[in-house]
Amino acid sequence: MAVVTGAGRGIGRAVARRLSAAGFRVGLTARNRADLAATADACAGPTLVVPADITDPAGVAEVFGAVEDRWGRVDVLVANAGAGMSAKVQETSDEDWQRMLDLNLTAPFRCMRQVVPGMVERGVGRIVVVASVAAKVGEPYVAAYTASKHGVLGLVRSAAAELARAGVTVSAVCPGYVDTPMTAETIANIADRTGRSRDEARAVLERKQPTGRLVTVDEVADAVWFCVNNPSVTGQGVDVDGGAVQS
Ligand SMILES: NC(=O)c1ccc[n+]([C@@H]2O[C@H](COP(=O)([O-])OP(=O)(O)OC[C@H]3O[C@@H](n4cnc5c(N)ncnc54)[C@H](OP(=O)(O)O)[C@@H]3O)[C@@H](O)[C@H]2O)c1
Repeated sequence: MAVVTGAGRGIGRAVARRLSAAGFRVGLTARNRADLAATADACAGPTLVVPADITDPAGVAEVFGAVEDRWGRVDVLVANAGAGMSAKVQETSDEDWQRMLDLNLTAPFRCMRQVVPGMVERGVGRIVVVASVAAKVGEPYVAAYTASKHGVLGLVRSAAAELARAGVTVSAVCPGYVDTPMTAETIANIADRTGRSRDEARAVLERKQPTGRLVTVDEVADAVWFCVNNPSVTGQGVDVDGGAVQS
């Protein structure tokens, strides 16, 4: 059984579909119930929709309580829910900083802490965090997001080292700009701030990948599946970025 956070749209929906097609029962969580229902419809096999705010510790407990009551222990966790924001360092508020850390770093940690005991007990488990190329390099105007994603890759690397002998793998997938609603929002922000058209703003983000295009959600889902499927892949940050970051 698998749990995918942020499963309502974008990368999370593609990952849920990928795991469902591979035969997993999939617990789907995000805040918007209608989005999750649409993801459930797109999945081939059994799903359980559990709406929750993953930044709330009670929400995390509720999600894992519900899926474990229904199906038993979690075999695969994909901690994908996340969001970005853009501001100069000196204009990043305490609230924005905390929001990035709560969602992109602390929530994956709490989800991981929830599933690790059962995985260790059974001697097998897979944890994949959807991080970002921002886990590897720093770009201007995204300090809080970048700090949260660097942090989550550190969490992944340490947990992988700790759990390797227990049969539990922990890796991250690090996408460049992916064609999702989150990127559509980034394109709209660039257009608003710079006076460029949406197409011009999109082209700016396409050029960030040496391949000259946005990454697809299925390409990210394939990389998640690679981490799930291969027991010797652990502690990695797998770049899915058209060659932007060569590490
Ligand atoms: N798009 C990119 O170019 C890109 C690049 C690199 C990394 N990433 C990472 O990939 C992940 C997915 O991105 P995406 O582009 O697919 O984003 P997206 O289209 O905005 O989807 C984000 C998902 O996370 C959920 N979510 C957001 N806040 C939540 C909260 N507090 N509690 C529970 N669920 C929450 C959203 O649902 P609700 O709003 O209904 O809660 C939604 O289902 C993120 O971690 C992001 O940082 C994305």
